[in-house]
Amino acid sequence: MGKVVVANDHGAVELTKQIVRHLQQRGFEVNHLGVLSTDSVDYPDMAAQACGEFLAGGYEFGVLCCGTGIGISISANKIDGIRCALPQNIFAAQMAKSHNNVNFIAFGGRIAYPEPVLAMLDAYIDSPVEEGRHAKRVQKIMALEGCTC
Ligand code: RB5
Repeated sequence: MGKVVVANDHGAVELTKQIVRHLQQRGFEVNHLGVLSTDSVDYPDMAAQACGEFLAGGYEFGVLCCGTGIGISISANKIDGIRCALPQNIFAAQMAKSHNNVNFIAFGGRIAYPEPVLAMLDAYIDSPVEEGRHAKRVQKIMALEGCTC
């Protein structure tokens, strides 16, 4: 099983603990960079730490959590080489892998999701990456890096 890097802010401490436990139960080696306390931290800092660790190599994917998942996913997507999805349900989590081939997935600890976060996470992990037209579009996403348009 692969290695996963995980990071969160104070808005998702409990959700992230559940995610870490679930990943470990599935056999992944998890590097959880924190935080474990509800003391306030800044989500861009947590995103930067996790993405930097991922880009250093050796990881299958990463998981990021904040109160909504919005701030930490926006932050991650600013970093070259990162594609971070913020799925709203199981279908979106599947597509995030199959069509967008994301290397990070984000969730919100304060969001009332219509489907369980751990089921969304499993859907992402277990979905195959589709090649062909989807791979071409992912290449086009990456070609937008540094673009001022
Ligand atoms: C922190 O209070 C909160 O803004 C953060 O967790 C996240 O929801 C931002 O997108």
